[in-house]
Amino acid sequence: MYVCLCNGYTDKEIRTAVRENGVSTAEEAYLSLGNGFCCGACTDCANDLVKEELPNQRVLAAE
Ligand code: FES
Repeated sequence: MYVCLCNGYTDKEIRTAVRENGVSTAEEAYLSLGNGFCCGACTDCANDLVKEELPNQRVLAAE
């Protein structure tokens, strides 16, 4: 499902960014995908997705 029409980001891409790129905010997730917010219409939905996905974030162990 498209979440951000300005950037063409899907819910799956945003969830993957949270899990694998170590981001913890919607803005960071967007930037890791290439572009930040544009019109901002998707902000609430993107924030909800990030909050939902944070418990599944991969934690890298320090060596
Ligand atoms: S729809 Fe996401 S910034 Fe416009």
